[in-house]
Amino acid sequence: MKTLVVYSSRTGNTKKVAQAMAGVMPGCELLPVEEAPSSVDQYDVVAVGYWVDRGMPDAATRAWLEGVRNARLAFFGTLGAWPDSDHARECMARGEALALEPARGNVVLGSWLCQGRVDPKVLEIMARMAGDVHPMTEERKARIAEAARHPDDEDCRRAQAFIRRFLER
Ligand SMILES: Cc1cc2nc3c(=O)[nH]c(=O)nc-3n(C[C@H](O)[C@H](O)[C@H](O)COP(=O)(O)O)c2cc1C
Repeated sequence: MKTLVVYSSRTGNTKKVAQAMAGVMPGCELLPVEEAPSSVDQYDVVAVGYWVDRGMPDAATRAWLEGVRNARLAFFGTLGAWPDSDHARECMARGEALALEPARGNVVLGSWLCQGRVDPKVLEIMARMAGDVHPMTEERKARIAEAARHPDDEDCRRAQAFIRRFLER
Protein backbone atom coordinates (compact mmCIF):
# COMPACT_ATOMS: atom_id res chain seq x y z
CA MET A 1 0.00 0.00 0.00
CA LYS A 2 1.18 3.51 -0.84
CA THR A 3 -0.22 6.45 1.03
CA LEU A 4 0.30 10.19 1.03
CA VAL A 5 -0.32 12.91 3.59
CA VAL A 6 -0.51 16.43 2.14
CA TYR A 7 -0.85 19.22 4.64
CA SER A 8 -1.06 22.99 4.82
CA SER A 9 -0.11 24.66 8.06
CA ARG A 10 0.55 28.29 8.86
CA THR A 11 1.50 27.95 12.54
CA GLY A 12 2.20 24.22 12.94
CA ASN A 13 -1.10 22.83 14.29
CA THR A 14 -2.11 20.95 11.17
CA LYS A 15 1.47 19.83 10.59
CA LYS A 16 1.52 18.20 14.03
CA VAL A 17 -1.64 16.21 13.25
CA ALA A 18 -0.28 15.34 9.78
CA GLN A 19 2.89 13.93 11.31
CA ALA A 20 0.90 11.82 13.77
CA MET A 21 -1.25 10.41 10.98
CA ALA A 22 1.70 9.71 8.71
CA GLY A 23 3.25 7.74 11.56
CA VAL A 24 0.55 5.05 11.35
CA MET A 25 0.06 4.95 7.57
CA PRO A 26 1.84 2.21 5.60
CA GLY A 27 4.23 3.29 2.85
CA CYS A 28 3.54 6.91 3.66
CA GLU A 29 4.98 10.08 2.20
CA LEU A 30 4.38 13.30 4.12
CA LEU A 31 4.49 16.51 2.08
CA PRO A 32 3.60 20.16 2.64
CA VAL A 33 1.03 21.20 0.06
CA GLU A 34 3.60 23.45 -1.64
CA GLU A 35 5.61 20.32 -2.55
CA ALA A 36 2.74 17.95 -3.28
CA PRO A 37 2.44 16.45 -6.78
CA SER A 38 -0.67 17.28 -8.75
CA SER A 39 -1.04 13.67 -9.85
CA VAL A 40 -1.69 11.29 -6.97
CA ASP A 41 -2.73 8.21 -9.00
CA GLN A 42 -0.05 6.05 -7.46
CA TYR A 43 -1.44 6.33 -3.91
CA ASP A 44 -4.16 4.12 -2.42
CA VAL A 45 -5.19 6.74 0.15
CA VAL A 46 -4.41 10.46 0.25
CA ALA A 47 -4.96 12.32 3.53
CA VAL A 48 -5.39 16.05 2.98
CA GLY A 49 -4.87 18.34 5.95
CA TYR A 50 -5.92 22.00 5.99
CA TRP A 51 -6.32 24.79 8.48
CA VAL A 52 -9.69 26.51 8.47
CA ASP A 53 -9.52 30.00 7.03
CA ARG A 54 -12.73 32.02 7.18
CA GLY A 55 -15.00 29.02 7.11
CA MET A 56 -13.23 26.85 4.55
CA PRO A 57 -9.99 25.03 3.83
CA ASP A 58 -7.08 27.46 3.42
CA ALA A 59 -6.25 28.87 -0.01
CA ALA A 60 -3.18 26.69 -0.65
CA THR A 61 -5.18 23.51 -0.06
CA ARG A 62 -8.04 24.76 -2.22
CA ALA A 63 -5.65 25.54 -5.07
CA TRP A 64 -3.96 22.14 -4.87
CA LEU A 65 -7.26 20.27 -4.73
CA GLU A 66 -8.35 21.79 -8.02
CA GLY A 67 -5.93 19.51 -9.85
CA VAL A 68 -6.67 16.30 -7.94
CA ARG A 69 -8.29 13.49 -9.94
CA ASN A 70 -9.14 9.83 -9.29
CA ALA A 71 -8.03 9.90 -5.66
CA ARG A 72 -9.36 8.34 -2.47
CA LEU A 73 -9.25 11.32 -0.13
CA ALA A 74 -9.54 11.58 3.65
CA PHE A 75 -9.74 15.16 4.86
CA PHE A 76 -8.50 16.33 8.22
CA GLY A 77 -7.78 19.73 9.67
CA THR A 78 -7.62 22.14 12.57
CA LEU A 79 -9.73 25.15 13.47
CA GLY A 80 -10.35 27.52 16.34
CA ALA A 81 -14.04 26.63 16.72
CA TRP A 82 -15.48 23.58 18.48
CA PRO A 83 -15.06 20.50 16.29
CA ASP A 84 -18.69 19.46 16.92
CA SER A 85 -20.11 22.86 15.90
CA ASP A 86 -22.22 23.69 12.86
CA HIS A 87 -19.30 25.87 11.77
CA ALA A 88 -16.95 22.87 11.78
CA ARG A 89 -19.48 20.75 9.88
CA GLU A 90 -19.88 23.48 7.27
CA CYS A 91 -16.09 23.72 6.86
CA MET A 92 -15.86 19.96 6.32
CA ALA A 93 -18.70 20.01 3.79
CA ARG A 94 -17.02 22.84 1.88
CA GLY A 95 -13.74 20.92 1.86
CA GLU A 96 -15.37 17.76 0.54
CA ALA A 97 -17.28 19.71 -2.11
CA LEU A 98 -13.97 20.94 -3.52
CA ALA A 99 -13.09 17.40 -4.56
CA LEU A 100 -16.44 15.96 -5.45
CA GLU A 101 -17.28 17.13 -8.96
CA PRO A 102 -18.31 13.81 -10.52
CA ALA A 103 -16.12 14.15 -13.62
CA ARG A 104 -12.99 14.17 -11.48
CA GLY A 105 -13.47 10.66 -10.19
CA ASN A 106 -12.47 11.34 -6.59
CA VAL A 107 -13.85 9.42 -3.63
CA VAL A 108 -14.11 11.21 -0.29
CA LEU A 109 -13.67 8.74 2.54
CA GLY A 110 -14.46 11.19 5.34
CA SER A 111 -13.48 14.36 7.17
CA TRP A 112 -12.21 14.97 10.69
CA LEU A 113 -11.34 18.23 12.48
CA CYS A 114 -9.87 19.16 15.86
CA GLN A 115 -9.14 22.47 17.51
CA GLY A 116 -5.85 24.28 16.99
CA ARG A 117 -4.34 27.23 18.80
CA VAL A 118 -5.31 30.49 17.10
CA ASP A 119 -2.36 32.77 16.40
CA PRO A 120 -2.49 35.42 19.19
CA LYS A 121 -1.43 38.09 16.67
CA VAL A 122 -4.50 37.32 14.58
CA LEU A 123 -6.74 37.46 17.66
CA GLU A 124 -5.26 40.83 18.54
CA ILE A 125 -5.88 42.21 15.05
CA MET A 126 -9.46 40.91 15.09
CA ALA A 127 -10.11 42.49 18.48
CA ARG A 128 -8.82 45.86 17.23
CA MET A 129 -10.94 45.82 14.09
CA ALA A 130 -13.84 48.21 14.26
CA GLY A 131 -17.10 46.29 14.15
CA ASP A 132 -15.47 42.94 14.94
CA VAL A 133 -18.02 40.35 13.85
CA HIS A 134 -16.89 38.16 16.75
CA PRO A 135 -17.49 40.04 20.03
CA MET A 136 -15.43 38.77 22.98
CA THR A 137 -18.09 36.87 24.90
CA GLU A 138 -17.34 34.51 27.82
CA GLU A 139 -18.10 31.59 25.51
CA ARG A 140 -15.63 32.83 22.92
CA LYS A 141 -12.97 33.41 25.55
CA ALA A 142 -13.37 29.84 26.79
CA ARG A 143 -13.23 28.48 23.24
CA ILE A 144 -10.04 30.38 22.43
CA ALA A 145 -8.46 29.23 25.69
CA GLU A 146 -9.37 25.61 24.93
CA ALA A 147 -8.09 25.91 21.36
CA ALA A 148 -4.75 27.09 22.75
CA ARG A 149 -4.27 23.61 24.26
CA HIS A 150 -4.72 21.83 20.90
CA PRO A 151 -3.88 19.79 18.99
CA ASP A 152 -2.90 17.63 21.98
CA ASP A 153 -1.92 13.96 22.29
CA GLU A 154 -5.54 12.86 22.38
CA ASP A 155 -6.25 14.74 19.13
CA CYS A 156 -3.29 12.98 17.52
CA ARG A 157 -4.61 9.59 18.68
CA ARG A 158 -8.06 10.40 17.33
CA ALA A 159 -6.57 11.48 14.01
CA GLN A 160 -4.73 8.17 13.82
CA ALA A 161 -7.93 6.24 14.59
CA PHE A 162 -9.75 8.23 11.90
CA ILE A 163 -7.23 7.40 9.17
CA ARG A 164 -6.83 3.76 10.24
CA ARG A 165 -10.46 3.12 9.27
CA PHE A 166 -9.54 3.64 5.63
CA LEU A 167 -6.34 1.64 5.61
CA GLU A 168 -7.96 -1.72 6.27
CA ARG A 169 -9.02 -3.25 3.01
C1 LIG B 1 -6.70 34.30 8.91
C2 LIG B 1 -7.27 33.23 9.80
C3 LIG B 1 -8.60 32.85 9.62
C4 LIG B 1 -9.17 31.87 10.43
N1 LIG B 1 -10.47 31.51 10.24
C5 LIG B 1 -11.04 30.58 11.05
C6 LIG B 1 -12.41 30.23 10.89
O1 LIG B 1 -13.14 30.70 10.02
N2 LIG B 1 -12.93 29.33 11.76
C7 LIG B 1 -12.20 28.75 12.75
O2 LIG B 1 -12.74 27.93 13.50
N3 LIG B 1 -10.88 29.05 12.90
C8 LIG B 1 -10.29 29.93 12.08
N4 LIG B 1 -8.95 30.24 12.22
C9 LIG B 1 -8.15 29.49 13.21
C10 LIG B 1 -7.25 28.45 12.55
O3 LIG B 1 -7.98 27.64 11.65
C11 LIG B 1 -6.61 27.53 13.61
O4 LIG B 1 -5.90 28.27 14.56
C12 LIG B 1 -5.72 26.46 12.96
O5 LIG B 1 -5.43 25.48 13.94
C13 LIG B 1 -4.40 26.99 12.40
O6 LIG B 1 -3.69 25.89 11.90
P1 LIG B 1 -2.13 25.90 11.52
O7 LIG B 1 -1.33 26.07 12.81
O8 LIG B 1 -1.90 24.55 10.91
O9 LIG B 1 -1.89 27.03 10.59
C14 LIG B 1 -8.39 31.21 11.44
C15 LIG B 1 -7.04 31.60 11.59
C16 LIG B 1 -6.48 32.59 10.79
C17 LIG B 1 -5.04 32.96 10.97
